[in-house]
Amino acid sequence: MELHITLDDRRDLTGSLYRQLRDAVLDGRLRAGEALPPTRELARRLAVSRGTVSVVYERLAAEGYLEARVGAGTFVRESAVPTPARRPSAASPLRPREVWTGLRAWPDRLRDVPYDLRAGLPDTRLFPYESWRRLVAGELRPKIYDIGDPAGLPVLREAIARHAGVSRSVRASASDVVVTSGIQQALDLIGRVLLEPGDVVAVEDPGYPPAATLFRSQGLRVTGVPVDAEGLRVDALPPDARAVYLTPSHQFPMGMPMSLPRRRALLDWARRRDVVVIEDDYDTEFRYGGRPVEPLQSLDEDGRVLYLGTFSKLMRPVLRLGYLVAPPALHEALRMARHVTSWHGDPPVQAALARFIDEGLLARHIRRSRRVYEERHEHIAAALAADFADRLTPIPSAAGLHLSATLSGPSDIRTVRAAEAEGVALFPLSDFAVTEPPVNGLVFGYGAITLDDLPEALHRLRHVLT
Ligand SMILES: Cc1ncc(COP(=O)(O)O)c(C=O)c1O
Repeated sequence: MELHITLDDRRDLTGSLYRQLRDAVLDGRLRAGEALPPTRELARRLAVSRGTVSVVYERLAAEGYLEARVGAGTFVRESAVPTPARRPSAASPLRPREVWTGLRAWPDRLRDVPYDLRAGLPDTRLFPYESWRRLVAGELRPKIYDIGDPAGLPVLREAIARHAGVSRSVRASASDVVVTSGIQQALDLIGRVLLEPGDVVAVEDPGYPPAATLFRSQGLRVTGVPVDAEGLRVDALPPDARAVYLTPSHQFPMGMPMSLPRRRALLDWARRRDVVVIEDDYDTEFRYGGRPVEPLQSLDEDGRVLYLGTFSKLMRPVLRLGYLVAPPALHEALRMARHVTSWHGDPPVQAALARFIDEGLLARHIRRSRRVYEERHEHIAAALAADFADRLTPIPSAAGLHLSATLSGPSDIRTVRAAEAEGVALFPLSDFAVTEPPVNGLVFGYGAITLDDLPEALHRLRHVLT
């Protein structure tokens, strides 16, 4: 890494260079074993004589900070760097807005545990790494321009329009698709393009916290709307809502699908009040029987539904690939919003994904993964019915990567803590409350845990619940 050095005081070049290099070693910016630039190169960069740099290197070597290795160069001496290298963090009058206080980023919650029942994680072992490596490597070659389209690579937008059309009956052409870095970025773009600070956004309660936090950070007012066995309660929607964000195909975190009459009622309500409907369809390519209900987007005749999909569950969340399907009136604004917030995605990876879809590899991966997840889903459903009936009432669900159950008796938070002490991690339903009273229950994610480990995980949980 290139070290930043300023030689403003031209009267004491040697002293100034010496102090800056020594401080960089002492505060750990230059790490043990790291190579310093050759004297000739550093002298040229700093517009000083080579002799000046040589004198400084020699002095630092004599004092034990650096060592010269014959024929190899000058390096930071192993013993020169205090461990851990730290400097005091600067005091500052700056404070984040209140909306950011008390939050925890997801990686902070993902400590390694022997039995992982946390929702939201697909099985990283199932991913076809060989194919993906081949496709990405094939795209890493020189191109004429190195700047991508903010809406995404055209071949990928084509492929996504087909994928969403075939697997989810979404009505879209390539021009309706904006490729995003996951659903989270799609939500950000929608807020910027369609909503004003102070607008009310209705979200399901319990619901998906990152969406609510994002909306709040944009100055929107978030109101939780209760859900029941048929999904979001349309009769409880706030009359002043400008937008509704929901997960109708597999409610997060409860798991039930929104019924068809409810979907129609929501679209009707949204049309009468001129409300934006944001449909998050994050994991329903994995279905385990039952007739899928059509997405709101394909029932909508009014062009007010924005459909969001993601490859986080289908492939892996680390790839940060998702998309948004929007009506033509929004295309250019969404494209510009993407442009000014993050320019564009990663064109080589987007091209690889287009081929992954076009060569049928995504469909094959979904088919294979679905079989694996379905077994886990059935195992948990059967165990809940057979062994947990006194405490847990499963919420019917036939899709995605998690299954939830309401809990009677002990508090879900205490149960989850006790389970963690036994090596089992899972989320309490009450973690997902927005503004309504929390629902007491447990979310069983089966993306990360193998079928072999499930019996032991459930056995330990049973032990905690007795
Ligand atoms: C409701 C919901 N939406 C979206 C996502 C995924 O979002 P992204 O595409 O940003 O990874 C998740 C992941 O857990 C989710 O639970």
